[in-house]
Amino acid sequence: MSGNIRRHILLTGMMGSGKSTIGQRLADALNWPFFDLDEEIEKRYAMTIPQIFAQHGEETFRHWERETLERMLAHDMAIVLALGGGALLQEKSHDLVKAHRVIWLDAPSSELWRRVKDTNRPLVAQGQEAFFLMHQARRAVYEKVASLKIECVGDPSTVVAAILQGLGADIGEQGNCD
Ligand code: S3P
Repeated sequence: MSGNIRRHILLTGMMGSGKSTIGQRLADALNWPFFDLDEEIEKRYAMTIPQIFAQHGEETFRHWERETLERMLAHDMAIVLALGGGALLQEKSHDLVKAHRVIWLDAPSSELWRRVKDTNRPLVAQGQEAFFLMHQARRAVYEKVASLKIECVGDPSTVVAAILQGLGADIGEQGNCD
């Protein structure tokens, strides 16, 4: 496809909002490749996310996250990409994704917390109150960057169907067939 930017589908939202699970199912439904940004970072730097936070700190993680995001967006096939919950926090990353379709998956804070509280995500270690405040603070960012917000509760196939419906004709204009 010469001269045109591939319009990828990017899933954003808090930790536990279902970006990876739904992203994989959405990609299957579209027959597009699926990638998870955190997994790509882990492969690229040969460390787990908790190791990166512990050994290099969050600032370095954000730097590596942005670099990896740029590489993923350069794919010349349209992809579905599940972002980490903080990948679009920096204003300068908004320009990177504005040509793509950004979908915000959300759920009530208590439900998100239930899903992540027993995982080893570094920012979960700050506790429930900090997590709820983070969700509250980040809503404005997700709202600003995403063109579609989907409540990610219940049956995953219903969530995928809602996304496909929300994308509507927009998705038909550019698949991976050409
Ligand atoms: C983060 C979310 C995580 C991961 C890192 C930081 C965040 O990804 O990128 O632990 O700042 O919200 P998930 O949203 O996939 O859990």
